[in-house]
Amino acid sequence: MHKLLIIDDSKTVLNQAMMLLKDFYHVFPAISGSTALKILEHHIPDLILLDLLMPEMDGREFFILLKSRPELSDIPVIFLISDTNDQTEAECISLGACDFIRKPIIKEVLLSRVEKTLELFDYRRDLQQTLDEKTRQIETAYIQTMAALANTIDAKDPDTNGHSIRVAYYSGQIAHQLGYSKEDCENIYFIALLHDVGKIGVPDSVLKKRDRLTEEEYELMKQHTTIGAHILKDIKMLPGLCDGTLYHHERYDGTGYPNGLSGEAIPRIARIISVADTFDAMTATRCYRKGMDPKIALEELKRNRGTQFDPEITDTFLEIADGLEVSNHEADLM
Ligand SMILES: [Fe+2]
Repeated sequence: MHKLLIIDDSKTVLNQAMMLLKDFYHVFPAISGSTALKILEHHIPDLILLDLLMPEMDGREFFILLKSRPELSDIPVIFLISDTNDQTEAECISLGACDFIRKPIIKEVLLSRVEKTLELFDYRRDLQQTLDEKTRQIETAYIQTMAALANTIDAKDPDTNGHSIRVAYYSGQIAHQLGYSKEDCENIYFIALLHDVGKIGVPDSVLKKRDRLTEEEYELMKQHTTIGAHILKDIKMLPGLCDGTLYHHERYDGTGYPNGLSGEAIPRIARIISVADTFDAMTATRCYRKGMDPKIALEELKRNRGTQFDPEITDTFLEIADGLEVSNHEADLM
C-alpha cells in the first residue's frame, strides 16, 4: 500500500483528507512542518500533500527544505491551496510541485490527482530501475570486451602475459596522481589496456623473436601502433583511445615513431602510457631474462626524463613508484 504524508495546519482538512484516503492508502497526518519532519525520520512516503499557507514553517519553506535533502528530494509533492489566484498556482508549479489541489477539497479531485501522481511516479521509478540495470549490463559487457581484447594481445605473445594489465594499472595510477577525475582515470586505464592491440597484426616470427630484430623486422614491429589505431578507430566511446595506441612509442625529443612527434604535440595519454609501458618492459620477468630491479628501472626513467619521456609525467611516476604493486612479476615467469 502506498504511503501518503498530509501536512496541513487545519484539523478539519486533515480529518477530511484522512477519511477520503484511508481506505486506499497508508496515511500519516501532520499538523505542522516540524511534525512532518519528525514523521520523515521514520517513514519515507510515496507522496506528500502539503498545505501552502501554514504558520511557522509554511509550505514553500518546507518544500525547499525537502528538496535540499537528497534522501527526500525525489518524493512527489502536491500543494493544497486555499486561494484561486493564478499566481499561487504558477508558483506551486515553478517551485517544482507535481500538482496542486484547491481547498475545500473535492473528493473526486483528490482521489484522481493522488492516484495519477502515484501512477506516474511508480512508472518513472520502474523505468529508472530498468535503465540502471541495462546501463550496468552494458558497462559489464564493455569492460569484458576490453578485457577480452587485452587478453588476445597477451595470448598472442604469452611471454608478455599480464603486460597490458600492468601498463593499464600504472597509467591509471599516474593519471590519478596528475589529478584526473575518477572517470578519466578509468578511461585512461582502458586506453592503456589496449595500447598494444596492434601486435595482433604483427607476424609471430617477429613478435616472438628473442634475438635482435633486423631492420626490416623492426619496421614490421613498429607497425603495431598504426595497426592498433586502425583496429580501434570505430570505438567512439573512449576518447583518446586511438591516440594512446598510435603514439605510445613517440619520444618527447621527437625521435620516436610512427610520426616523430615531440613534446606537447604528443597526446598526453600517449606520454603517460610511454612511461608506464617502458617501466613494465624493464621490470617484467620474461622466460629468457629476469626483470630489472624496479629501483634501477626508475633510475633509467630519470635518465631519459626530457628526452624519451615527458618530464612532468616521469616525475609523477617517480613520486608514486614506492606505492605501486610491482611484486607480481615473478608470477609471470614461465
Ligand atoms: Fe607498444
